[in-house]
Amino acid sequence: MQANSSPVGGGWSGRFDEPVAEIVKRYTASIPFDYRLAEHDIAGSLAHARMLAACNVIAAQDLSDIERGMATILDEIRSGKFEWSLDLEDVHFNVEKRLTALVGDAGKRLHTGRSRNDQVATDVRLYTRAACDEIATLLVNLQKSFVALAEQHTDTIIPGFTHLQVAMPVTFGHHLMAYVEMFARDHERIIDCRKRVNRSPLGAAALAGTTFPIDREMTAKALGFDAVCRNSLDAVSDRDFAIEFLSAATLIMMHLSRMSEELILWMSTRFGFIDIADRFCTGSSIMPQKKNPDVAELVRGKFARVQGHLVALTTLMKGQPLTYNKDNQEDKEPLFDTVDTLTQTLIIYADMIGGIRVKAERMRAAASEGFATATDLADYLVRKGVPFRDSHECVARAVKAAESKGVDLSDLSLAELKTFSNVIEDDVFACLTLEGSVAARAHVGGTAPARVREEIKLAKTRLQAQ
Ligand code: ARG
Repeated sequence: MQANSSPVGGGWSGRFDEPVAEIVKRYTASIPFDYRLAEHDIAGSLAHARMLAACNVIAAQDLSDIERGMATILDEIRSGKFEWSLDLEDVHFNVEKRLTALVGDAGKRLHTGRSRNDQVATDVRLYTRAACDEIATLLVNLQKSFVALAEQHTDTIIPGFTHLQVAMPVTFGHHLMAYVEMFARDHERIIDCRKRVNRSPLGAAALAGTTFPIDREMTAKALGFDAVCRNSLDAVSDRDFAIEFLSAATLIMMHLSRMSEELILWMSTRFGFIDIADRFCTGSSIMPQKKNPDVAELVRGKFARVQGHLVALTTLMKGQPLTYNKDNQEDKEPLFDTVDTLTQTLIIYADMIGGIRVKAERMRAAASEGFATATDLADYLVRKGVPFRDSHECVARAVKAAESKGVDLSDLSLAELKTFSNVIEDDVFACLTLEGSVAARAHVGGTAPARVREEIKLAKTRLQAQ
């Protein structure tokens, strides 16, 4: 960061008798992180300047000077030549001072009818809107990679768990499509959140509006906002939109963390259901045999970070009286870090899912243990007229017998099965197989391969349109 020639400070020096203490300058400056808003800041300033010219608040010549200066600044920033100054506190002062250095008085006129308060609120909304768009696209890609894997495994059988105990056989495709449901809701949430992000605070100025004859609709339209914020006090102080975004982000990370937990379990030697491609794993410095699912573990870990940001932002806002308070400057780092973390996680995850090797025989073997088709036998008895509670009891006794013999229900002979209920006939064995069990659940939302294929088709059509 460059030292600045101004003896006192940034854009408010006349009021002060002594310079800000060095440590305070560093403490209060946001330039080390808000420089990332620069392009949005320039877009906001250009929209504001064009509006001021259209409303005859500044001259046409001022506008063209501002446009010329901003073009230079944009080049300097993009080429890394722009000299950010800590003395100038934040991105807004940095850009404005450079503009004035480049074009003189026109640069000083830019701030007519606005304040850094509506300016920063505008910048953060533009940043969050771009983040919504990027995250939405990445969520579509992620779903596509889940659907592609599901499509290869519509018939692959895996145990379905409740309480982490084998419950019923399900198809692996069905299991994967459960995550597609989650990410589809996440996508909806981001799109919905964008609507409230996309409103323009510009023109609220410091808090009460401005005495100049401004046209707020014009700047809103120029910046692609759907509408203007309708109360100036709310416009400068509202950060709900960022909190909504962080909530949606937290849910996405929560879903990815749940999936990661499954991947970690499935890759353990005990389960041995899958193998994750080497490029997502690391070894151990001491144990040569190790291959650790680091990415999945880190995703589970990074949830904590994103949820922490959500807690930070709600806590930041809860004690603030209207309107803008310097506290608000603390909104940026949690927001930026959430976007960075989420973006990287979504990109890596889509690739990692694509690189999973499925060990179908291990999955099937695990589904054969734990009497996963017991409910199918109970349902069979019900179809033969036995009330469900009685059939439940019959099957519980059959499971106990099979368990003590160390065999599965399907290994019991017809004669043995008949001792638990005499309505059992030869046709019982069809419903005791894993394939019979899953195929029988063919209603909407069920695990049957035919149904899963239907759902995959629907998801593909939806994802193509998004
Ligand atoms: N850097 C400040 C922020 O991020 C910009 C707004 C400053 N406004 C003020 N009244 N001090 O919030």
